[in-house]
Amino acid sequence: MGLSTYSSKFPKRWKLFIVLVGILLIVSQIYYIFTTPSKQESIPLDVERSHTSNQPMGGDKLPKVHDPIIKTPPRHSILTGFGGFKSKLPQLQHDFSPEPVVYTKLRESRRNAIKKSFLHGWTGYKTYAMGHDELKPLSNKPKTTFGGWGATMVDSLSTLVIMDLTDEFLNVMPRISKINFRVDQDISVFESIIRYLGGFISAFELGERKQDMLIQKAEKLAQELLPAFDTPSGFPYHLWNPAKNTSTNQETLFAEVGTFQLEFMMLSQLTGNTIYGEKAQQVTDFLDSMGYEQGVYIKGLYPTALDTHKGRFKDDPSNWILAISTFGAMGDSTFEYFLKEYLLMDGSVPQYGRMYTESINAMKKHMLRQVPGYDLLLLPPFDTQHMNHRNSMDHLTCFVPGMLAMGAVTFNQPEDMIIAKGILETCVFMYRTTETGLSPENWALGKTEEYNPVTYNKTKSELEKLRNWWYDDELVNPLILEKTERESQNELPVHKKKDETRVVTEYSTNYKLPPVKKRPESLYFDDKRYLLRPETVESLFILYRMTGDQKYQEYGWEIYESIEKWCKTKSAYASVRNVERTPGEEDEETEGFNQIDSMETFLFAETFKYLYLLFSPPEILSLDKFIFNTEAHPFVRKHWNWDKILKKDDV
Ligand SMILES: *[C@@H]1O[C@H](CO)[C@@H](O)[C@H](O)[C@H]1NC(C)=O
Ligand SMILES: *[C@@H]1O[C@H](CO)[C@@H](O)[C@H](O)[C@H]1NC(C)=O
Repeated sequence: MGLSTYSSKFPKRWKLFIVLVGILLIVSQIYYIFTTPSKQESIPLDVERSHTSNQPMGGDKLPKVHDPIIKTPPRHSILTGFGGFKSKLPQLQHDFSPEPVVYTKLRESRRNAIKKSFLHGWTGYKTYAMGHDELKPLSNKPKTTFGGWGATMVDSLSTLVIMDLTDEFLNVMPRISKINFRVDQDISVFESIIRYLGGFISAFELGERKQDMLIQKAEKLAQELLPAFDTPSGFPYHLWNPAKNTSTNQETLFAEVGTFQLEFMMLSQLTGNTIYGEKAQQVTDFLDSMGYEQGVYIKGLYPTALDTHKGRFKDDPSNWILAISTFGAMGDSTFEYFLKEYLLMDGSVPQYGRMYTESINAMKKHMLRQVPGYDLLLLPPFDTQHMNHRNSMDHLTCFVPGMLAMGAVTFNQPEDMIIAKGILETCVFMYRTTETGLSPENWALGKTEEYNPVTYNKTKSELEKLRNWWYDDELVNPLILEKTERESQNELPVHKKKDETRVVTEYSTNYKLPPVKKRPESLYFDDKRYLLRPETVESLFILYRMTGDQKYQEYGWEIYESIEKWCKTKSAYASVRNVERTPGEEDEETEGFNQIDSMETFLFAETFKYLYLLFSPPEILSLDKFIFNTEAHPFVRKHWNWDKILKKDDV
């Protein structure tokens, strides 16, 4: 088990330089202390350092969260990927031009605000629920949801490092070292892998591999979960009881059999134990081989419900729900992992890329819907057996724009970028169109039509104009008309030189988003809750990093402000009961009148992290150096010798 550490060899003149910079810093600090009249307080990093019991912290008074101080990490830090890795794949990130100072100020002040919000929630969790899975943000009681191993604590680790809260990070290490995974409870294999295992692995890497305990914990947990993969098909069980060494249920979901591969590949790489990578490959190969006899009706569009013993998708004709394929709940992240496995391996395993593009091309052909008169695209579930689509879409589906955008560049499929933007407009629309500025959990659109690249994002009158010129002798081809209009307005000639097309990043300090369009008549909300979900801000972060279009930052800022306004509680953040409900209705005076006593761990792992990164300098956690697991835990992208595992034909 070779756990390497990064060496820190500096040339001599650098040493001299560092000493000089150090002296300069000390002198400026002394100057600062003597010239600043008011007190300069630092963040209260270790309010609860003395507590080691697993009891809730209690107490009425929450420690005050002060304005955090943000330092930009040096170029050669872990957060910038040490500058070392150079991918063989196409570059994902936009080439950002240098920022003007006024814009940097605005961006940093927003980043600061988001960090402060994270600290507000974290402080509440530490005060009332430290070491438990979740804090209930209204009653300030702890809640056990994921084995009682401290899900919020572990899921927050990578964000703590990214937000430069090193003391907080170090303070939780003793608690983490005491977690015992062998509990007599039914544990979700999927959730344990994405939240805990992903959390440990990412924290180990971001902590510059200094905390060996983290990788040992990761392996301990993986050892407890490995028996759950000993099924006739190799597909892991949905629930697993580590103490009893059994599962009570042989059914599972598509999302759950394809969302452990990144974590298991990473674990094999970091520990040298190939068993995890072998399991990952075994399941991927089986998925790849599945056909009609296993309930697959359309290549790449896997249905949702699976039987781990029979190794087959369920499609009982009496239950037409079962052959449904979806990029929302129960399907989602397996498609995401095909692409991310390909990126993690830097394209060295073509199989992952092929499986991804097969699925995406089938999705575009069968599932995608457009909304006449709007640029909105809907991605609803699709019944692969009866070939018909549903009308609804989950907020969970909103990770798709980020995935499609990365896939568009990786596989040179420019149309996927257009689709990514269209789906993202839909997700953002669901926030902007409600009174609270928060998105419902689920929405439906009755009137849609099949996505068609020829007519997509064109209004009825535009379409008429494009078609009818042919029949009217007075009219000319609209393309010619457009060209001459442009030339008469002295705009850029149609044939630009190559480098003129290079996008210069726009940095505005008073960017104005267009007003939100009227709702399509057939739009309605099934489930009006907002559960602090991250998927839309995740896609905003990725699209911003890939296009440099400031619109995405502004959308993200609006969402952040709505979270602050509607979700914040005295101790932390709560889910919202009804995104359409506003003050003025009954109960207005009651505190938390529109809130649910629930704060899932992904608020810390994902929502605040992606918002924070949306306003961080683009070289921090570059998409070209890191991939994020489905719980937003970053893994360092690098190529390593995967052949060893792939050559094992007998697995
Ligand atoms: C768990 O059960 C399997 C058989 O179902 C057995 O092979 C294995 O040894 C058991 N593991 C433990 C730790 O008891
Ligand atoms: C739709 O078309 C309009 C007008 O050409 C354009 O501004 C907008 O960006 C397009 N929407 C998307 C999602 O591409």
